[in-house]
Amino acid sequence: MIRIILIGYMGAGKTTLGKALAQELKLQFYDLDWYIEERFHKTVAQIFAERGEDGFREIEQNMLHEAAEFENVVLACGGGTPCFFDNMDYMNRQAKTVYLKATPDILIRHLRMGKTERPLLKGKNDEELLQYITSSLQTRTPYYSRAHYTFDVNLLNNSEHIKDAVRSLKELLNIKSE
Ligand code: S3P
Repeated sequence: MIRIILIGYMGAGKTTLGKALAQELKLQFYDLDWYIEERFHKTVAQIFAERGEDGFREIEQNMLHEAAEFENVVLACGGGTPCFFDNMDYMNRQAKTVYLKATPDILIRHLRMGKTERPLLKGKNDEELLQYITSSLQTRTPYYSRAHYTFDVNLLNNSEHIKDAVRSLKELLNIKSE
């Protein structure tokens, strides 16, 4: 049984690489934010607006406890998931955890490529965004660093980059191709 959990900051590439890795390994892919949105019939942004961040974090923990029970899956978490409650310990018990580590510059470039609305980043101009990311990344790094593996993410802006990263991730996790 294989269970892989990808963690890391918003824009690190958890969803992009998670999907590609799952496909390569013939595993199911789950994204915790999407899982929450399906179960609650609401977007993450709506949940933040209605229940505040504390309400979202409770839901996130409950949903993590469901999704991290599934077998033969790659699960991409939200950027904040490892940093609340005992989620990081729990994930380390349940799965092979991988921290997708990227610099603020790469994170910002990825975030600009994506279109999803992230409540924590909403309304920030470029300078504020860089400041927020740099400081919250520092606060979050001690949690992220507790993952079993750390993988350095470079810019993922085309399918070759994604393929290369998946190849390296497989090597890091020591998963052999059939
Ligand atoms: C969050 C990251 C988001 C989402 C929510 C909060 C965070 O997920 O869970 O907006 O605290 O970093 P992504 O990392 O998938 O954007």
